[in-house]
Amino acid sequence: MKLANKVALITGAGSGMGRIASLLFAREGAAIAAVDINEAAALETAKLIEAEGGRAIAIRADVSSSADAAAMVAATVAKLGAPDILYNNAGIEGKSDSLVNLTEDDFDRVIAINLRGVWLGMKHALPHMIKKGGGSIINTASIAGLVGLRNSGAYCAAKAGVIALTRVAALEYGRYNIRVNAICPGAIDTPMVSRIQGGGSLSESAVRRISTLGRIGKPEEIARMALFLASDDASFATGAPFIVDGGWTIS
Ligand SMILES: NC(=O)c1ccc[n+]([C@@H]2O[C@H](COP(=O)([O-])OP(=O)(O)OC[C@H]3O[C@@H](n4cnc5c(N)ncnc54)[C@H](O)[C@@H]3O)[C@@H](O)[C@H]2O)c1
Repeated sequence: MKLANKVALITGAGSGMGRIASLLFAREGAAIAAVDINEAAALETAKLIEAEGGRAIAIRADVSSSADAAAMVAATVAKLGAPDILYNNAGIEGKSDSLVNLTEDDFDRVIAINLRGVWLGMKHALPHMIKKGGGSIINTASIAGLVGLRNSGAYCAAKAGVIALTRVAALEYGRYNIRVNAICPGAIDTPMVSRIQGGGSLSESAVRRISTLGRIGKPEEIARMALFLASDDASFATGAPFIVDGGWTIS
C-alpha cells in the first residue's frame, strides 16, 4: 500500500474527483478527512470508505472561510492526527459569461473558493506538516490555468493563481520536507462537467476538440495522478503543474 499510516485531508470530497480520490487513497491505507461544504455528501464518502473497511471522518467546511479552514484542519488533527497529505480539490465552475457581463459577485465567489480556498488550506495545514516533519500538498488547478477559455475569466484567473501559489509554497516549504504540486485536469466526467453542459453530455465534435484520445477523462485517471503525487513515488517532484488532459493543450 502506497499510503499506509498516512492521514489525508481532501476537500471537495463529496463529489467527482474528490470522492474518487478519497476512496483510492483509503484503499492505499490512508485515513481520510473527507471535507465538503455539502455535509451529507462528505458523510456519504466517509460511509463508502468505511464500507470498504477504510478509516474516514466527514467534516463540513466552506474552504473560502478562514474559520472553516482552520476548523477542518483542527478536527482532522484531533480525530486522525496531523495531515501528511492535503489535497485542495474543492472548486466551482462559476458563471459562464464574458468579462464585461460578469458581476463582481460572480468574480469574487470563484476567486474566493478556487484560489483563496487553496491558500487557506495550506495556511492552516502547513504548521502541522512542519511539526510532523514533512508532507505532500496537491492543489487542483486546471488546464484553464494554462490556456485561456472564453467566458471563464474568473475561473482561468483562479486556476492560474493556484499554479502560482503552488510554486511559492514549494519554494517556501521544501526545506521542511514538504512537496507541493498542482494537477491540471482537462475535461473529466464529473457532475461539474455535466452541470456546465446543462445536464447533458459533450457533443462528439466538442470531445474531439478537447481530447486527442477521443474521449473525456474519468475521475479515476486524475485520482491516480493525485496518488502518485501524494506518495513517495513522487519524492523528487515539487512545485510543478502536472497536466492530465488527454492532449487538450498540445496545440
Ligand atoms: N471536471 C472537470 O472537467 C475539471 C477540469 C479541471 C479542473 N477541475 C477542478 O477539479 C476540482 C473538482 O471538480 P469536480 O469536477 O470533481 O467537481 P464536482 O462539482 O463534482 O465536485 C466539487 C466538490 O466541491 C465541493 N465544494 C464546492 N464549493 C466548496 C466550498 N466552498 N467548500 C468546500 N467544498 C466545496 C462541492 O460540494 C463538490 O462536492 C475543482 O477544483 C474543479 O475546478 C475539474
